[in-house]
Amino acid sequence: MNIYIMQTAAIGPFVADQFQELLALTPDAVIGLTTGNTPLTTGIYKELVRREREDGMDLQSCVFVNPDEQIGITREHPESYSTYMNRHFFDSITHPLEKRFIPDGMAEDPQAECERMERFIEQSGGIDYQLIGLGINGHICFIEPAPSLPSRSFVTPIAPVNRELYAPLFGSVDAVPTHAVTFGWGTVMRSRKLCLVAVGEGKAEIVAQALLGRVTTELPATLVQLHPNVDIVLDSAAAKVL
Ligand code: GLP
Repeated sequence: MNIYIMQTAAIGPFVADQFQELLALTPDAVIGLTTGNTPLTTGIYKELVRREREDGMDLQSCVFVNPDEQIGITREHPESYSTYMNRHFFDSITHPLEKRFIPDGMAEDPQAECERMERFIEQSGGIDYQLIGLGINGHICFIEPAPSLPSRSFVTPIAPVNRELYAPLFGSVDAVPTHAVTFGWGTVMRSRKLCLVAVGEGKAEIVAQALLGRVTTELPATLVQLHPNVDIVLDSAAAKVL
């Protein structure tokens, strides 16, 4: 595990450099993206868009996949992860990126949607680089703390603490979806490289638990300790308790 600690604003360029290094070797790389505030605070998508528009970074051959979506909301819903990805990334890219998968929150059979996602990844040759955020309760993707966890993508209840957190976005806690589709822990572990990004003092305690604590499904981010090729990218506030 490589731990990098830097200024918040340096994280976007750092991750974009990693993309460019990967694309130099593997122009058709399969890249796993993530949602949440972290990619915005750190400017990850902003920097990728800038490099694509201004520096000629060619993303056209890449395959993109997002690991999760909340069940019961349409792709067009303002809080869907499809909307997020379009708003912050796909819509700003000069050349449309066709090869991409974001689970559909309105899929008739959410478990079948999980299988469709697994097949998409397998048929694309597996994930080369997976960007990961860290939830305040130690979730990654939407893999919430639980006594045991499925290896393949699955349907999960969204933890009450996260539903409370998203309540302002949806107007009330009752309006927040109760379940999500998410990668399984095996889906994460099969990615050839992981890059976990966390920023801000509010994440400091959970970062320390995730990186230094006992590996347990009750704190899913601890599973990254078992991955052979993982970068942890933090700002100094998030690294405070390490
Ligand atoms: C979200 C997503 C995760 C994300 C995490 C952290 O709900 N399901 O994929 O990484 O929570 O979000 P943030 O960066 O806003 O703290």
